[in-house]
Amino acid sequence: MAADLFETVGDARPSRETIAEGAALLRGFARPFEAELIPALRTIVKQAPFRHLITPGGHRMSVAMTNCGSLGWVSDPSGYRYDPIDPDTAKPWPPLPDVLRKLAASAAADGGFHGFAPEACLINRYVPGAKLSLHQDKDELDYGAPIVSVSLGLPAIFLFGGLKRSDTPRRYRLEHGDVAVWGGSSRLFYHGVAPLADGEHGVLGRQRINLTFRKVR
Ligand code: SIN
Ligand code: FE2
Repeated sequence: MAADLFETVGDARPSRETIAEGAALLRGFARPFEAELIPALRTIVKQAPFRHLITPGGHRMSVAMTNCGSLGWVSDPSGYRYDPIDPDTAKPWPPLPDVLRKLAASAAADGGFHGFAPEACLINRYVPGAKLSLHQDKDELDYGAPIVSVSLGLPAIFLFGGLKRSDTPRRYRLEHGDVAVWGGSSRLFYHGVAPLADGEHGVLGRQRINLTFRKVR
């Protein structure tokens, strides 16, 4: 009893919340990785700067993106794909740093998925007002592996629905260091991010950074 009281001091949120079968929110899971993680991200975005991709429908995405890993997710008027080469620099994406590999694998394991070895880490940058419409992550060949999604910087409202676009999504506030993992029967659930509210984060300033790890093939 006393131990339970201690665990909630300073943070009333449970450390692991199941939000669907195969899906969990791991509160603060990335915090112990932060000191290594943030400098690693700064190095990556120097090599592969953020850019606003164009959707196949011709829209410029409000979220700016880049990648690291052996494959990167890209969108252009011809469609969505994973590409080993950054189309903006014509070079391979920066490699996945060890700290990110460890964070992704240990979060996946905590969410119930052991042996997660992602090839791709999509890095999303949201400034106030930026949003991500409801979508499924379905450009991967391997749906057996989960999606691991790390939130950093300003808090966001994560929308998590079901297998149909029309399923009303539930709303979860994701804060700096929170990790969402979804796989198994929720691997193809629709999800998105509501327009980011303005604010100033102590470490990252006026933005939210999200890392989405995927096993592609
Ligand atoms: C995504 O679905 O790729 C990103 C989700 C998020 O930013 O939390
Ligand atoms: Fe997604």
